Amino acid sequence: MSPVRRSSATAGNLLYAQSGGVTSVINATAAGVIEAARARGVKVYAARNGILGALREDLIDTSKETASAITALRHTPGGAFGSCRYKLKSLADNRAEYERLIEVFRAHDIRWFLYNGGNDSADTALKLSQIGKTLGYDIRCIGVPKTVDNDLAVTDCCPGFGSVAKYTAISTLEASLDVASMAETSTKVFILEVMGRHAGWIAAAAGLAGEGADAAPHIILFPENAFDEAAFLARVKATVERVGWCTVVASEGVRNAAGQFLAEAGTRDAFGHAQLGGVAPVLAALVKEKLGYKYHWALPDYLQRSARHAASKVDAEQAFAVGRAAVDYALAGMNAVMPVIVRTSDAPYRWKIEPAPLAKIANREKKMPRSFISRDGFGITAAARRYLAPLIRGEAPLPYGRNGLPSYVQLKNAAVTARLPAFKP
Ligand code: F6P
Repeated sequence: MSPVRRSSATAGNLLYAQSGGVTSVINATAAGVIEAARARGVKVYAARNGILGALREDLIDTSKETASAITALRHTPGGAFGSCRYKLKSLADNRAEYERLIEVFRAHDIRWFLYNGGNDSADTALKLSQIGKTLGYDIRCIGVPKTVDNDLAVTDCCPGFGSVAKYTAISTLEASLDVASMAETSTKVFILEVMGRHAGWIAAAAGLAGEGADAAPHIILFPENAFDEAAFLARVKATVERVGWCTVVASEGVRNAAGQFLAEAGTRDAFGHAQLGGVAPVLAALVKEKLGYKYHWALPDYLQRSARHAASKVDAEQAFAVGRAAVDYALAGMNAVMPVIVRTSDAPYRWKIEPAPLAKIANREKKMPRSFISRDGFGITAAARRYLAPLIRGEAPLPYGRNGLPSYVQLKNAAVTARLPAFKP
């Protein structure tokens, strides 16, 4: 579907909402949205906890926040307005929810809706972009990219990824220096488990920590490859015998040959995705049982996607830029599009932002291309390095307080007075 342009309107309010797993730079996108809209004289409401806030008419008036508080969002991790995982059914399956959204939009004169999330959220934005016509209300809907998983289609990369990639590469490098120091008498194998669900982009980024056969990480396990226990153990053993120690980086989404996750926590979210976490201890137990090596493992979990202190400058800039572009597209009358990042050059790294149809993005998952994974399946190729390296470049410094902690902003998040009867999604 190609982007739909409608006549541009100037009156009305803009609704922004955050969706899905948050990142260390999603609030930079919020800052981009709010600053761009303010500059155009448009009021921004934020939905509390994503689409749920829109359904419940639980809206936040961002005009009550000072300019400096909005600027401070650029360096504050987490989702300042709250986020959610909530799947909107189709119009045929749950018309009441769509009618309610239109009722809320109408009650607050909301003419533009910006939904900041990953592929599931792009689906929600796409559905909403199409109901206006059916339900007789002129609403333009823009999806705004965000996900640490870097698995959105069309865009070259996703805001949030560059920072988690940098955190992962740094952590791999630092922990490996630690393991190497004591390997003769203590730990021989260190296993780091990273996020990424079905796509190995974050695991791949660990590969930036070093280059060459003896440099850590010695083994990367991707969800794109079926886990081969014998090959894995043989590689661990050979590495320990040659180097003295071994660093393994495993994606949480590693599966066996039958397609089952090595570690599934047992719960599922609204979209049916299994909650993952726990590959590292499974692998560590295997290493101990079969090879007898002492190990340590780490599961940074939310630490990796909230680590604003290690954010990438490129990522923070892109996160801000997609927010601004989303406002430009909305106010220009576009509908059902997403501002995507287009790479125009690897070296020097150059990028720009363009609109892409949400229909080409919603519900798709971009996995690591085969050409990015080394032939033995345990590392990254030169092409992957060329792609990944610019995304972690540059630091995005933080103001620190006298207490030694970063000065993160806590917004007032003043509620907009509700005008409608309560609604339970
Ligand atoms: O949003 C993506 C992600 O960070 C995944 O990599 C991870 O598996 C998932 O979110 C965790 O989701 P939740 O915080 O809802 O458990």
